[in-house]
This record gives sequence, C-alpha cells and structure tokens, in this order.
Amino acid sequence: MARLLITGGAGFIGSHTCVVLLQAGHDLLVLDDFSNSTPLALERVSALAQLDNQSCQARLQVRRGDIRDPAGLDNLFAQSASAGAPIDAVIHFAGLKAVGESMRVPLRYWDVNLTGSRCLLAAMDAHGCRTLVFSSSATLYGYPECVPIPETAPIQPINPYGHSKAAVEQLLHDLAASAPNQWRIACLRYFNPVGAHPSGEIGEDPLGTPNNLFPFVSQVAVGRRKSLQVFGGDWPTNDGTGVRDYIHVMDLAEGHRAALDCLLAEPAQLLTLNLGSGQGASVLEVVHAFERASGRQVPYEHVARRAGDAAITVADPSLALQRLGWRTQRGLDDISRDGWAWQSANPDGYDEPG
Ligand code: NAD
Ligand code: UD1
Repeated sequence: MARLLITGGAGFIGSHTCVVLLQAGHDLLVLDDFSNSTPLALERVSALAQLDNQSCQARLQVRRGDIRDPAGLDNLFAQSASAGAPIDAVIHFAGLKAVGESMRVPLRYWDVNLTGSRCLLAAMDAHGCRTLVFSSSATLYGYPECVPIPETAPIQPINPYGHSKAAVEQLLHDLAASAPNQWRIACLRYFNPVGAHPSGEIGEDPLGTPNNLFPFVSQVAVGRRKSLQVFGGDWPTNDGTGVRDYIHVMDLAEGHRAALDCLLAEPAQLLTLNLGSGQGASVLEVVHAFERASGRQVPYEHVARRAGDAAITVADPSLALQRLGWRTQRGLDDISRDGWAWQSANPDGYDEPG
C-alpha cells in the first residue's frame, strides 16, 4: 500500500477517486484550495470509505493549500518524510477546467494549470518522489480527424484550457526524457466524466450555470432549471445531436487505481492513455436515459450549435485495456441512475444540509 498526495482531491473526480483508493488500502493526503469544492465532500468520502475517527486522521489527511505555493509544497513533502510517512506517489487533479472561462481569462488557466503543475513537479523532484498520475483531457484532440480516437491522434487543442493541458503533457515528456528510468508517469486523457457515487452522497456540484450537458440535464430534472438547450440538431449523427463518450466517474476512479498499480509495479515509464468507454451517446439519448432513471420529464429546445463543438468524440480505449486491464463497467443507464441519486438527494449540491 502506498501513501499518496492527491491534489484537488475534494473535487468531482478527486473525491470519487479518494473513495476507491481508500478502499484499496492506500493512505491519502489531500491538498486542495477549495476554490471549486468543499471540505464536506471529503467528510462524505471518509464516511463512504467507512473510516472511523482514528483511522480517518491517519488515512485521510487534508491540507488547505495552493499547488502554486512552492514553500507549502516543500513543507508537505518534508513533514510527511520526517513523520515517517513519505509520499510515494501523487495523483494530480487540481486545476481549472471550464473551456469558456479559459477563453476569457487565459492567464489564470496557464497559471493554475501550468505553473501549478510546474511547482508540484519541482517539489516532487526535490523530494525524490517521481511517480505521478496526471489528469489530462480528450480536449487535446480538438476536432478529431478520426473516431474512435487513438492516443496517436494529433494533439491540436482549440482553446486555452486545452493548450494548458497539452503544455503540461509536454513538460512531463521533457522531464521523463531528462532523467530516464526515474519518472513513472501516467497521463490519463479523460473523455466525458459524469455520474456519481451510487450512494448519492458525493457527485458533481458545478458553481453557477453548468456548462456541461449532464449536470444541466440533472438540474432540469430536479426542477432547478426550466429546460435544456440542445446545441444543434443538424450534426452528421444518427439524430442530429452531438455524440460524446460519457464515462461513469466510478469507472474513471477505478482507472486511476489501475494506472497507479501499473506505475508502481512496472519499470519507470511514461504512459499516455485514453480513459473512455468507446461508446458514443447523443444529446437526445442522454436526455432519454435521464428521463427513464429519474421518472421526470426533461423539456428541451433546439438552438444553434455551440462554438467550438465537434460532432462526435469517442475514445479508442483499447490501450488502457491492454496496459491496465481496465475497461468501463457502467453504461448510460447506470450513469443516469447514480447521477439522479446524487441530484435528487442534494438538489442544491453540497449547499444542501444533510
Ligand atoms: P473540480 O473542479 O471538481 O476539481 C478540481 C479541484 O482542484 C477542486 O477541488 C479545486 O478546489 C482544486 N483546485 C483548483 N485550483 C487549485 C489550486 N491552485 N490549488 C489547489 N487546489 C486547486 O474538477 P474535476 O472535474 O474533478 O477535474 C479534475 C481534473 O480533471 C482537472 O485537472 C480537470 O482539468 C481534469 N479533467 C476534467 C474533466 C471533466 O469533465 N470534469 C475532463 C477532462 C479532464
Ligand atoms: C466540454 C468541453 C471539453 C471538455 C469537456 C469535459 C467545450 C466546447 N468542450 O466538452 O473541452 O474536455 O467538456 O467534459 O466546452 N450540450 C447541449 N446543451 C448543453 C450542454 C451541452 O446540447 O447545455 C451538448 C454539446 O453540444 C455536446 C454534448 O452536449 O454535443 C456534450 O457537451 P459537454 O457536456 O459540454 O461536453 P463536451 O462538449 O464534450
């Protein structure tokens, strides 16, 4: 079992991954500035992993801090080592992820996503911790030239968010090349992470109006919003709406555990893997799956296409199966059922008491 630093561990994907890693027996130190999350998520993680008070203190430690703070990072690594519990590996979720916002405030995105990653890598290197799982994104593929998309497809991001993720991947390549046989790195390119823990205790809680389809649909179903705008009905797809590869966040969490196991078991390497299901679903298929799961109507209207959208993005996930023995286990109905469990129990997200 390893002791892991989880940056951004209170966020959507981080919180679900923490549950899976705790259940796998790892000890976690979460670093988060809570700019897009709440400590309550981690209290719920601890309950889901059935940690009692004593084991919680040892197995799920939480530090409020910023990944761009070199002194804070240095302390974290040094204190862990001097307490006899050095950090073995890092899972790096912390970052900003809203495409539209990244076009308005690119400096902020480059700062948090690239400078933050650089600070983290420098601290890791200085303390001899060279095992990292990095949250990359299918956004790197831009408008894909072929689907399903293999990892060898051209990297051609079309917005500052994507540029910042591509820059971090490049930095990781440069670092690995500079010290062969030292760095163990997995760049995981997520497709569309959605759904929630089946308990409905933790889930996605976007600030303000959701940009992404799933949280918007679930907020319509729960009555927080009147209707969904479907961006484009004339895409070259079966029903004219955009097709995406939705991946259940618990499958994604298990993908991180598998990637970590692989890095720790194999010789030093840099792995770049798509994490997706390999199955596409259209906007209307998502709407109908969510209606079945929730028993609620999801009214929608067609509007113009959204700038920057592609018709179809679907992963070729075969390399992850080959290298990690990992594939998704859950489909659109599971995603909708679990997403509804979260949304219906927490209509206002983590703001809702209880
Ligand atoms: P999230 O916003 O829910 O989680 C990110 C966490 O990082 C939050 O808890 C936030 O408070 C924290 N954070 C932000 N800036 C920080 C900083 N400077 N220092 C410390 N903590 C900071 O997002 P998520 O959906 O869980 O995404 C996690 C990672 O996966 C991100 O890097 C994101 O770019 C990447 N990703 C997400 C998606 C997606 O659709 N959710 C898709 C592809 C890649
Ligand atoms: C978006 C980002 C992508 C990021 C991904 C993370 C853009 C242009 N792309 O991708 O960079 O990696 O989130 O999950 O923002 N849709 C509607 N109505 C809505 C919202 C979405 O019809 O209110 C449609 C979209 O046109 C698309 C599909 O639903 O066809 C999925 O959209 P979304 O959830 O935003 O994900 P992506 O566009 O794949």
